[in-house]
Amino acid sequence: MGREYKNIVILISGSGSNMAALARAAEREDWAGTVGARIAAVISNRADSTGLALARELGLPTALVPHKDYDSREAFDAALMAAIDAHSPALVVLAGFMRILTPGFVAHYAGRLVNIHPSLLPAFTGLNTHQRAIDAGCKVAGATVHHVTADLDHGPILAQAVVPVLPGDTADTLAARVLSQEHRIYPQAVRELLDTL
Ligand code: GRF
Repeated sequence: MGREYKNIVILISGSGSNMAALARAAEREDWAGTVGARIAAVISNRADSTGLALARELGLPTALVPHKDYDSREAFDAALMAAIDAHSPALVVLAGFMRILTPGFVAHYAGRLVNIHPSLLPAFTGLNTHQRAIDAGCKVAGATVHHVTADLDHGPILAQAVVPVLPGDTADTLAARVLSQEHRIYPQAVRELLDTL
């Protein structure tokens, strides 16, 4: 019999830079050997997400579940759950996955579903976090890795990184500064969590 791994399934919608950071950390730090975990699949809801091509380049199995093919959120989530559960995941990692998930989906993965959000939660849940932080006059911004619960962007916090908001920052310059920290804390938090599973 082959070895049983803790399977990680990563969900993306866009450029997939956090997914790539996770994949590179898993490789570099030998997650298979050290925490018995591997990335089993990268799943996107968008055919045009450049992250899907990047995942293929990184040698990861990919799947596409286009939300537009489904009439309702419930039908989409059911198809997504089937695609995820085909890999018997120990952990489902949202990495720029831009769909609101149904309570049934969140309950199904309770305790094994995490997300990264580009703000210092509980401040600035939702979208346009960087512009909102600039408009509010924040002196610091950052990112948060958290467990996903039914309450959007409100689950228990696993890790945070803080960056300065600099004079003249635009949403884009601030986003880039935050993103580079996301690439550091997300793999670290996921690895620590895998160790406890
Ligand atoms: C990140 O800023 C993440 O915090 C947010 O969406 C962005 C995804 O970027 N949820 P990428 O697809 O990982 O490059």
